[in-house]
Amino acid sequence: MAIKAPRGTFDILPDRAVLWNRVEAAARKIFQLYGYGEIRTPIFENAELFTASIGETTDIVEKEMYLFQKGRETYALRPEATASVVRAYIQHNLHKTRLFQKLYYIGPMFRAERPQAGRYRQFHQIGVEAIGSIDPLLDAECILMAAALFEELGVGGYTITLNTLGGDESRGRYRDALRRYLLQQTSALCENCRERIERNVFRALDCKEPGCREVTRKGPNIHEHLSDADRESFHTLTTTLEDAGIPYEVDRFLVRGLDYYTGVVYEFLHRELGAQNAICAGGRYDHLVADRGGPDVGATGFALGMERVVLIISQEVKDPRTPQFFLVNVGDETRPEVFKLLEQLRRHGVAAEMDHEGRSTKAQMRVANKLGVPFVAVIGPDEVASRVIRIKDMETAEEKSATFDTIVQVLTQTLKAYEQESPDSRP
Ligand code: HAM
Repeated sequence: MAIKAPRGTFDILPDRAVLWNRVEAAARKIFQLYGYGEIRTPIFENAELFTASIGETTDIVEKEMYLFQKGRETYALRPEATASVVRAYIQHNLHKTRLFQKLYYIGPMFRAERPQAGRYRQFHQIGVEAIGSIDPLLDAECILMAAALFEELGVGGYTITLNTLGGDESRGRYRDALRRYLLQQTSALCENCRERIERNVFRALDCKEPGCREVTRKGPNIHEHLSDADRESFHTLTTTLEDAGIPYEVDRFLVRGLDYYTGVVYEFLHRELGAQNAICAGGRYDHLVADRGGPDVGATGFALGMERVVLIISQEVKDPRTPQFFLVNVGDETRPEVFKLLEQLRRHGVAAEMDHEGRSTKAQMRVANKLGVPFVAVIGPDEVASRVIRIKDMETAEEKSATFDTIVQVLTQTLKAYEQESPDSRP
């Protein structure tokens, strides 16, 4: 049996790589506008970094980390990068040069989840972290920046769901209230949620079991337990989003699966993605830096799932290898001339192609047609002798003459006009 890529992983082949590059290029462009600089961290870290940061009782730490031992150390392939970025911020004393740092990253993450459409074991995130401030305008900035990126990519059809988990005081009060309430309802809860009451009570809020949902829907509401400062912070965020014309919904049951969150949390949910519909998610984590041994500073950020974003934009895009021009050769003896012309054109920025599979003239035309190549020319012994060829527009069947010496000029002009006319159908 031939060896295949591991379950939940995949290869990115050239026709798809262009989409990945497009997403990355758009992200770099937008992040630069907002003043975020790139950081690259290792894809594995000491496992303890993630256990301590993400939380011992989270699904990621309990079930999904890829762990391996080398010598006395236990390492984990990174399941996410917020913990790594915070580790780097502290390790390199970034706060000493400038307390407030805006960083972004692009790269693979690893979680041993059950693979399904939109959920993989090696997946890719683009993420940002603004470390060193508790300013709620930065939460707004992150959300606006993600929205700007989606706009740049032409991705619509999503909703932004917001919640706040409150600062320490509010969260403590709410935790107690929720525990008290759930302890009176244990018979209606699933086994997981009964366990969660002590271990991680907020996770009961996003349990999918109908019985648990019914109970939590009638239970205490975080927004009624917020301190004045937390309420004000959340208000600043929501009014800033409103002023910027970004629609959102508040979902008081949104809690997220990582323990480091402290205040606002959010998800961008796409309506066409089915069960795995979160394309971007994040929030505030004001204790993580201090907990890892750094200064006591606030931080906020998000990560988007590249696979899911690529899936959305893939519908509209053509294979980038579709040539702009195909030179059909008649008979083997014309091939060297054809090849020379192609090379000239490519050097002048025209994506030009010929047949390399020994096809007949007719079959070559069929291939060009199937590929959707907009312009084609045929070169036989007559054309080689006269050094004149006719460039055919495959859509209108119009023809234009060019000599071997003017072909670059004629074709670049023709392509320019063509692209101006039909920018969306450009190969
Ligand atoms: P997360 O919600 O675990 O947050 O992941 C963020 C995004 O990564 C998800 O919304 C989804 O698009 C994508 N994603 C997660 N798991 C998978 C998977 N198995 N397959 C495909 N895509 C996936 C974080 O990771 C936080 N570090 C985000 C953050 C940054 N919070 C603050 N700063």
